[in-house]
This record gives sequence, C-alpha cells and structure tokens, in this order.
Amino acid sequence: MEAYSSVAFTMQNMQSQLSNPDSEFYFAMLDNVIVGYMKLNFNDAQTEYKDKNALEVERIYVSGEYHGKQIGKQLLDFALNTARSKQFAYVWLGVWEHNEKALGFYKHQGFELCGSHDFMLGDDKQTDLLMKKEL
Ligand SMILES: CC(C)(COP(=O)(O)OP(=O)(O)OC[C@H]1O[C@@H](n2cnc3c(N)ncnc32)[C@H](O)[C@@H]1OP(=O)(O)O)[C@@H](O)C(=O)NCCC(=O)NCCS
Repeated sequence: MEAYSSVAFTMQNMQSQLSNPDSEFYFAMLDNVIVGYMKLNFNDAQTEYKDKNALEVERIYVSGEYHGKQIGKQLLDFALNTARSKQFAYVWLGVWEHNEKALGFYKHQGFELCGSHDFMLGDDKQTDLLMKKEL
C-alpha cells in the first residue's frame, strides 16, 4: 500500500487528475460535511475500454459512519443519470475481487460482471473485477 500511495497520491499525480477535462469529481454533502465522493472518467481518461459511449466510475467512497444511508446509491444514480443524459450505452467500474461489500452494492444496483483486470500492488498480484450496467 505504501508503494501504491507514494505514487497514486503525490501532489503531481493529484494535480494531473484534477486538471484532466475528462475526469470529474463530485462530493456528497450532509449538513455542510463531506460524507462521500466520486470520480467519473470520460473518453481517454477511462482506465480501460476508453469507449466514448461509456462512463467509468473510477472511485466511489462514503465515510464509514454514513454507510447504509443511501448516500452511495445517490452518488451512483448521479453517475447513471449523467451517462443517460449523454445517451451513453453503459456505465462500468472496477472493484477489487475481495471487496464483498462493494460487489454486493453494485449487484444490488443492477451491475453485472463483464471481465477482470490484474494489477500489481507492490509485489502482490491483485485482481479487479469489471462490472457494467447497460443503459
Ligand atoms: C460501497 C459503498 C459505496 C456503498 O455505499 P452506501 O452509502 O453504504 O450504500 P447505500 O446505503 O447507498 O445502499 C443502497 C442500497 O444498496 C444496498 N446495499 C448496500 N450494500 C450492499 C451489499 N453489500 N449487498 C447487497 N446490497 C447492498 C442497500 O441495502 C440499499 O438497498 P435499498 O436501496 O434497496 O434499500 C460504501 O459502502 C463504501 O464507501 N464502501 C467503502 C469504499 C468502497 O469499497 N468503495 C468501492 C470501491 S470500488
């Protein structure tokens, strides 16, 4: 994780992500407190597929104490409605194969498995499952 964090969360990497016009960041607010956030990728900013008719939800996080309060669903619905408004064909995402909670959440929201992607976390090979929801 240290090896990953030292690359993924450098100021330079964050600035590059924030300045990419094909990535959008959204925050879920409750009583002026940020309780969740989401990163959406369009076009070439997508980490796979890079399909102009698709939207990737690269990150969706709700603060632990706010889990189970429909905040994740509201963020995901926003992503789905954004894709629908652009008449995209599907929304897709990658989720770590052992993240049972997130897998259950996405299945509950109508996402289906469509592939997998191996990646290195330090010296460990890990697998993300790819899921999509047709619109
Ligand atoms: C996954 C996550 C975003 C879900 O957000 P949440 O706000 O806790 O979920 P919600 O309250 O919006 O759930 C909405 C619906 O999904 C259902 N649901 C949630 N988790 C579920 C699960 N594991 N299995 C089945 N259904 C689930 C809820 O029961 C609810 O159903 P309903 O609308 O029929 O009542 C949140 O748990 C999270 O941030 N986890 C840690 C970060 C993470 O793993 N992110 C994903 C990285 S790929």
